[in-house]
Amino acid sequence: MNAFAGAAAPTRVPTPKLDTWVASQDFDKPTLVIDVDRVEEQYRALKAGLGHADIHYAVKANPAPEILKRLTDLGSHFDAASKGEIQMCLDAGARPDIISFGNTIKRASDIAWAHAAGITLFAADAPEELDKIAANAPGARVYIRLIVETSEADWPLTRKFGCDSDMALDMLDYAKSVGLSPVGLSFHVGSQTRRAEMWKPTLDQLSVIWKRAKDAGHDLTLLNIGGGFPAFYGEAIDTPTDYAARVIALVTETFGDIPQIMAEPGRGMVAEAGVIVTEVMLVSRKSDRDVHRWVYLSIGRFSGLAETEGEAIRYQFETDRDGDATGPCIVAGPSCDSADVLYEKRPMQLPLTLTSGDRVLIRNTGAYTSTYSSVSFNGFPPLDVVVI
Ligand SMILES: Cc1ncc(COP(=O)(O)O)c(C=O)c1O
Repeated sequence: MNAFAGAAAPTRVPTPKLDTWVASQDFDKPTLVIDVDRVEEQYRALKAGLGHADIHYAVKANPAPEILKRLTDLGSHFDAASKGEIQMCLDAGARPDIISFGNTIKRASDIAWAHAAGITLFAADAPEELDKIAANAPGARVYIRLIVETSEADWPLTRKFGCDSDMALDMLDYAKSVGLSPVGLSFHVGSQTRRAEMWKPTLDQLSVIWKRAKDAGHDLTLLNIGGGFPAFYGEAIDTPTDYAARVIALVTETFGDIPQIMAEPGRGMVAEAGVIVTEVMLVSRKSDRDVHRWVYLSIGRFSGLAETEGEAIRYQFETDRDGDATGPCIVAGPSCDSADVLYEKRPMQLPLTLTSGDRVLIRNTGAYTSTYSSVSFNGFPPLDVVVI
């Protein structure tokens, strides 16, 4: 039973393989357990909706070698943020020509390394980045990332990435002038964009720029629609196939036919394939009058749950005591850092019987957890990962 979202919450996604395995094990530290078959199901479901668009899995969401290997076998392409991620994809058997170097912020020497390794497609959102690519990967294909003005996503990726429309047009010209091949545009609608209809304003903005670029004589063939495909965190979402099909329908309605579409799902591919097993370290109150209890877990903001920043992502917690009476709890991590609080503005309803040592499962945590986990903040080990 789901202790988190109250009576209105839809039931959770069934994960029988994870549940059986987790129930049979003891854990002495917080552990992310991933069902790689579930990743395959998500890949197939997204691919069914995306049609002829290529999936470039966003490796940053979870680079576990077993995931990369399975996706390689299934024919997935990859979006890598760094030399390290490219190497992990190559180690998993991916061909370099299906790996894009999608970070707009790259070291010159890493671009040269990637070029030598056979990577041919790079992202940029600034002239200086184009200079670096031209110098270190001469003749490479590039796509220009556009800034997304508004986002309804739970985890927006605005401001830091992309350039505005006028600059994008100049960038396409500039890329040509330095000998690169500017093949297209990219954007990211924002991570955890819960409904496909939320893509419409962004697609409308982008299509204006796409048309202006074509009118200016740029032979654009590639639209990279980024990630944003949601995971289930307690609020009903469409199935991956329906969601992806709707997004592609919106793209086609807005842009017409495009020779090559790339999608870069991260969260939507792996989140629901993972569960974190953690335990209660302490339950306390700050005074006799305190209406809230504090529940301190063995995992926190710095050991994998970074996306609780601003309480943006609200995970679903489960305990063996679900069904007992509940009360409002502030949930915090174990470190000696006062920022290590997960949910305080909107406390969680957790069982009043909860006590230290109790196991807590945190559902649908396969994305953006292990990669965010610090190496030894306060001496806590990084989040352990087990792939089954
Ligand atoms: C360039 C790029 N592509 C794809 C993704 C994956 O996004 P999501 O996990 O929302 O699918 C990200 C996430 O940060 C990204 O930066």
